Amino acid sequence: MNLPASAISQPAKDLAAQIRRQIGGREGVRIGLVLGSGLGHLAEAVDGPRIPYSELPGFPHAGVSGHVPELVIGTLEGMRVAVLGGRAHYYEKGDPRAMRLPLEVLTALGAKTLVLTNAAGSLRPDMPTGSIMALNDHINFSGLNPLIGEPSDARFVPMTDAYDPALRVALFEAARKTGTEMHRGTYAWYSGPSFETPAEIKAIRTLGADAVGMSTVPEVILARFLGLKVAAISAITNMAAGMSDEKISHEHTKAMAPVGAAKLETVLRAALPALG
Ligand code: HPA
Repeated sequence: MNLPASAISQPAKDLAAQIRRQIGGREGVRIGLVLGSGLGHLAEAVDGPRIPYSELPGFPHAGVSGHVPELVIGTLEGMRVAVLGGRAHYYEKGDPRAMRLPLEVLTALGAKTLVLTNAAGSLRPDMPTGSIMALNDHINFSGLNPLIGEPSDARFVPMTDAYDPALRVALFEAARKTGTEMHRGTYAWYSGPSFETPAEIKAIRTLGADAVGMSTVPEVILARFLGLKVAAISAITNMAAGMSDEKISHEHTKAMAPVGAAKLETVLRAALPALG
């Protein structure tokens, strides 16, 4: 991996130094965890300092309800973790690089693994609302890429096995041990913020997607660029457009996320010692 020295910017290094001071010389972190819409309560389980994004210049001022804009650094299941309670989405400002600085900071703090969570719509009748799905691949249906403009050859990031197979094995082992049903599948990224049309959902179903959402994919690309191993889990909050009579709305997403979130937390806690 020949990451150019410039991949981690000076502002990210400065923020990491500031955070290290704020956590008072405690150990760095092994795992970064990004929480999706309505999944914020997982941060409460982490014992450690909580730093509001407003104290971290350049961090997203989470403009999306259902996200908690704070960074929590602490220990969960014996692992040193940094939890990003909220993320920035492309649809907020039209910037696919919106999460670059926070991910650079996690890398500078020592993270080797990035665990991404999100709320998603299901394209599979056998994966109803309240299910969870480990991502094994994605389709970048937006065509956008956070590495456009990146000057070095490091921008040509291979995306085969972007979702680390060994980490996925650890997730499924944790699901088995805890008796938690977890699906696996391919996540398609639409930019949002409008939800998809039924025709768009039919199109991506035909192309092999199992779930759809408005986040995660640019973060996976950035994480692979930064050399982080990636695992990702969706909490299914609704059947995608045209798949059922269920109403699709952000309110519904936030209301339904806790159902999957409970399963997601069970699996993650059991898997954490093997993810770092
Ligand atoms: N589409 C896109 N994003 C989503 C959905 C959906 O159906 N549900 C939750 N996030």
